[in-house]
Amino acid sequence: MPHLRPFVSAVVRPIPITTRDERIAELDRAGHNPFNIRGEKVSIDLLSDSGTGAVSTDQQAWAQRADERYAGADSWYRFRDAVRDLVPHEHVLPVHQGRAAERVLFGCLLGPGDISLSNMHFDTTRANVERLGAEARDLPSPELFDLSSPAPFKGDIDVEAVQAVLDGPEGPRVKQIVVTITNNGGGGQPVSMANLERISAVAREHRVPLVLDAARFAENAWLVTRRDPGYQDWSPRAVARKAFEFADAVVASLKKDGLSHEGAFIAVHDPELADRCEADVIATEGFRTYGGLTGHTLEQLAQGLREVLDPHYLADREHEAASLAERLQAAGIETLRPTGLHAVYVNASPLLPHLQPKHLPDHALTCALYREGGVRAAGGGLFLSTFDENNEMVTPPPFELVRLALPRRVYDHSHMEYVADVLAEIAKNPERVPGYRLTHNPAVLRHFRCRAEPIMP
Ligand SMILES: Cc1ncc(COP(=O)(O)O)c(C=O)c1O
Repeated sequence: MPHLRPFVSAVVRPIPITTRDERIAELDRAGHNPFNIRGEKVSIDLLSDSGTGAVSTDQQAWAQRADERYAGADSWYRFRDAVRDLVPHEHVLPVHQGRAAERVLFGCLLGPGDISLSNMHFDTTRANVERLGAEARDLPSPELFDLSSPAPFKGDIDVEAVQAVLDGPEGPRVKQIVVTITNNGGGGQPVSMANLERISAVAREHRVPLVLDAARFAENAWLVTRRDPGYQDWSPRAVARKAFEFADAVVASLKKDGLSHEGAFIAVHDPELADRCEADVIATEGFRTYGGLTGHTLEQLAQGLREVLDPHYLADREHEAASLAERLQAAGIETLRPTGLHAVYVNASPLLPHLQPKHLPDHALTCALYREGGVRAAGGGLFLSTFDENNEMVTPPPFELVRLALPRRVYDHSHMEYVADVLAEIAKNPERVPGYRLTHNPAVLRHFRCRAEPIMP
C-alpha cells in the first residue's frame, strides 16, 4: 500500500529564501551558534520539534470556544479530562512548559547532595536537578552507545546499574528515578514496556519515586506497538495508558505530543506531594486550574491529546522520519539506527573525518548545513562534553550527532528531500567544512548560550 499523508495544509506561511552570503553574515552575527540565528534567515527549521508543530482545524475550532475564567473554567475541565483519560493519577496540575513541571516536582523531591538517576536527563531536566544542588546521573542501556545496532529499545534505563547504585553506599541519596520516554538526549530511542515494568518494581522495592518524563509519550507508545510483538495489536492509547500506570509521578511537556505551542502537566498519586506542588504552581505559574495557560491553549491541548494518538498520524510521522533517514543513508551519510520519530540524527564524525572531537564535528556540520542550505539543526556534542577554563575539551562526548528535529505536521516530503540533498552536497567535499573552537563557554546549558569561531585544522 503506498503511503498516504492523513492531512493537508489549511493555512500556509511562506518561508525565507536567503543567499549563501546572507547566511555567512548571519552565522558571524550569531557567533556561530544556531540558537542565535534569526528566524527570518532560516529556510527549513529543524532546531526543535518542541512547540513548533502546526495545529489542526479542530484545535482552532475548540480554541474559539475557550473559557478564560480565572478559576474553574470549562476549558480547564476539558483539558483535565483529556489528561485523566491517559494517566491514572488523581492529581493533575497544569504549567506553562515542561521545565516548569520539572522545577516544581523536583523542588519537592530533591535537595543538596541527593541523586537523580535516569536513562538520560534531557538538558533542562539535568539543569533543574543541578540547580537544587543534586546530582543528575545518566544510566542508559549500554546498547545506546552502538549507533548502528538495530536493537529496538535503546532508550531503556540500565536496571542492573540502577539496582547497583541503590544497593550500594550511595543508595540512601537516590531520591528519584526519571525515565524519559522517548529518550531525547539518547537519539529519540524508545523505552520498552518490560523495562518500565522492571524499573518500577526496583523503584518500589527501594521506596524511590519513579518519575516519567513523558514529553513524547505517544511516539514511545507507537514505537512499542511497532517493535514489540507482544503489543502489536494494542492501540497507541492503550500502550500509553499502561506506561503511565508504572509511574509514581509524571512531568510532561505538551509542546511535543500535546500538539500545541505551549503547556505541560504534573501528575501525582500522593496527595501530600500534590499539595506541595500545588502551592508552588500557584505562587509561580498560576492558579491550579490554568497554571499560566490561557483557556485557548487548554482547549487546543485537550484536542491535541486526542489527535496525537491517532494511528494514521503516528504512522505518517514514522514514515516522514524513515524516508529522510533512508535518503541520507543512500547518499552514504550515517544516521542513528533504528530511526525514531521526532528526529533523524546524523553521525557527524564519519562524515567529517578530518575533524577531531576537539574541533566539534557535530557543531561544524550544523553550521555547514545552515551555511550551505539555510537549514537549522542542533548538535548534541557540546551538551555531553566537558571543557577546561581555556575552552579546551577535557571529556569528548560519547557521540557527535546532529539532530534534525521534525516539527509536527509542518514540512512535506519535498522539504525533507531538500534537507537530504543539502547534506549530500556537503558530504561530497567534507574537507571544506571548518572545525570550531568555543570563544564563549558558559558552564550551564552551554549549547544554548555559547559562541564559537571556525578554524581550519
Ligand atoms: C525529554 C524532554 N523533557 C523535557 C523537556 C522540556 O520541555 P519544555 O521545552 O516544554 O520546557 C523537553 C524539551 O524539549 C524534552 O525533550
